[in-house]
Amino acid sequence: MGPLVAAMMEYERGVPQRINHFLKVYSFAKLIGEQENLPAAVQETLEAAAVVHDIGIRPSLVKYQSSGGNFQEIEGPPIARELLARLAFPEDRIERICFLVGHHHTYQDIDGDDYRILVEADFLVNLYEEKTDKQSVLKVRKNIFRTKAGTKALNDLFALPE
Ligand SMILES: [Fe+2]
Repeated sequence: MGPLVAAMMEYERGVPQRINHFLKVYSFAKLIGEQENLPAAVQETLEAAAVVHDIGIRPSLVKYQSSGGNFQEIEGPPIARELLARLAFPEDRIERICFLVGHHHTYQDIDGDDYRILVEADFLVNLYEEKTDKQSVLKVRKNIFRTKAGTKALNDLFALPE
């Protein structure tokens, strides 16, 4: 995953907040995927999607002066596709990663462990970065978190009662 991480850091050059964000989401996603024993191909898709998931923020800010999730979901996939193709990711892998980039703010119809864990990892980081209050964190746990490892990470992060 090193070359993709390096390319994404270059893409986000000068924006340490977004570089830190994707590195954290990537770490949580990798850990949760490993703990949930994902098949190797799904794990790789998850990790790559975590690295590039917010790739649509930069163009959304330029085009719409907004980083709204809906803009990101439109702007992200084509740029992700270009980057992944340049790094010689296989076509079927690129397809799924771009789907995940385009849906990571959509929480209904989560259709796979890669999708589920990407959403959980992004929440783990966003709940902290946005200083979310404990009541809201508990609500997110109930509504979003489904994997054992993701829930454990959330409970540990915020010292939640089991
Ligand atoms: Fe994110």
